[in-house]
Amino acid sequence: MAKISKSKSKSKSSQSWLKEHRDDIYVRQSKADGYRSRAAYKLLELNKKDKLFKKGMTVVDLGAAPGGWSQVAVNLIQPKGMILATDILDMTAIPGVEFVQGDFTEESCFNELLARLGERSVDLVISDMAPNISGMAAIDQPRAMHLIDLAVDFAEKKLQKGGSLMMKVFQGEGFEGLLKQLRADYQTVLSRKPDASRARSKEIYLIAKGKKA
Ligand SMILES: C[S@@+](CC[C@H](N)C(=O)[O-])C[C@H]1O[C@@H](n2cnc3c(N)ncnc32)[C@H](O)[C@@H]1O
Repeated sequence: MAKISKSKSKSKSSQSWLKEHRDDIYVRQSKADGYRSRAAYKLLELNKKDKLFKKGMTVVDLGAAPGGWSQVAVNLIQPKGMILATDILDMTAIPGVEFVQGDFTEESCFNELLARLGERSVDLVISDMAPNISGMAAIDQPRAMHLIDLAVDFAEKKLQKGGSLMMKVFQGEGFEGLLKQLRADYQTVLSRKPDASRARSKEIYLIAKGKKA
């Protein structure tokens, strides 16, 4: 009996998630506009406010699948410039976007990105990477922070002086230390919560502009 009521409540909660998803204005809009994810609207909003992209830029998109951000980014930097995207999952090709499939926590992925960039220095690193959520903060937060630390490290190595880093972060353990580090390494650090980001999500986006030497 207990088993039945448990599965009933589970199916109720997944039904309400599905309803939220179906009704979500950004999900419907992304279908109409041809974007692969509702995340595209977060990037459009961030760019409208903070002018992240310019034509001809070299941009690295970390945690890119299914490709909403890469679709937005390639439109904003073309006809010249380069988007190098990576994800642990495969991503259907997007014209103008180079893709590396790999686990960003592994050195081989890091090195493959460096090899693809060659001598090019990077103007902008964007990271929407997020681990699979277990629902337990003690597990999820360190996993998320590890990906963020790696993105910061990548930007430290490949971002040119004056370049910018924009990434999804989760407020919690490690957040204050991250802010302190970014403020030391960049001229300006901004925090944003786009309208397209669900209110119940702990995610926010940090924009670190003007990398110091
Ligand atoms: C919120 S989704 C990104 C959505 C994407 N920005 C878009 O607009 O379509 C987060 C992504 O991070 C990726 N990710 C998580 N852990 C990763 C890892 N260790 N290495 C590479 N990608 C990872 C996931 O596979 C997932 O595709």
